[in-house]
Amino acid sequence: MALPAQLGPDCLVEVELGCADGQFAFQLARALPEVFVVGLDIREKLMASNRSLAAEEGLANVEFGYVNLNVDMDQVFAPGSVDRFHVLFPDPWFNAKHRKRRVIEPWLLQTLCVQLRPGGEIHFASDVFEVALEAMAEFEAAVDALATDAAQGLRNMAGAWTFWRGNPFEGQSRREDSTLDRGQRVWRMRYLYGA
Ligand SMILES: C[S@@+](CC[C@H](N)C(=O)[O-])C[C@H]1O[C@@H](n2cnc3c(N)ncnc32)[C@H](O)[C@@H]1O
Repeated sequence: MALPAQLGPDCLVEVELGCADGQFAFQLARALPEVFVVGLDIREKLMASNRSLAAEEGLANVEFGYVNLNVDMDQVFAPGSVDRFHVLFPDPWFNAKHRKRRVIEPWLLQTLCVQLRPGGEIHFASDVFEVALEAMAEFEAAVDALATDAAQGLRNMAGAWTFWRGNPFEGQSRREDSTLDRGQRVWRMRYLYGA
């Protein structure tokens, strides 16, 4: 995905995976004009409408595109080119036969790590505890798998098997709004790559 002309080649790149209406991506882009923000989702029409809204607003540092995360994510970004991936409130698949459709799985984690710059981060949040815990199990397995190579290691920023409290980012997704409005808890994780 091409960098906007007004941003230099070394600008920070933040990507929201499964961004839907892009509320989080829009808020991030407005708050951080020096950062290139990318929102990706499997719903093409929604991405086209997000692009139109960004153009109407004159927001030049945000882009939206189609991706099927579990199939073609390895084609989207060059190795070492992204500073942060946000995976916010992915769809829960409760049925055991749909378990393989969970967004956080080893292939995706490996792919995201390849595309992160050293010192980059994967940020995950869910309102469904079981989904968050399964995702944490995948992350912690990746921590163990990469532990022999410090340059490529992953580290839970809250400590092993621990959720991050509060939202430290400049945006809040639509699903986070509704979760908090219901008085429910957000299960958040932050994993640092190669630092
Ligand atoms: C529950 S919504 C959350 C939207 C937004 N992140 C939020 O927090 O409000 C999950 C989003 O993930 C997208 N999604 C589900 N599976 C996907 C996949 N395999 N690839 C890309 N996007 C996917 C859906 O289209 C939907 O927009």
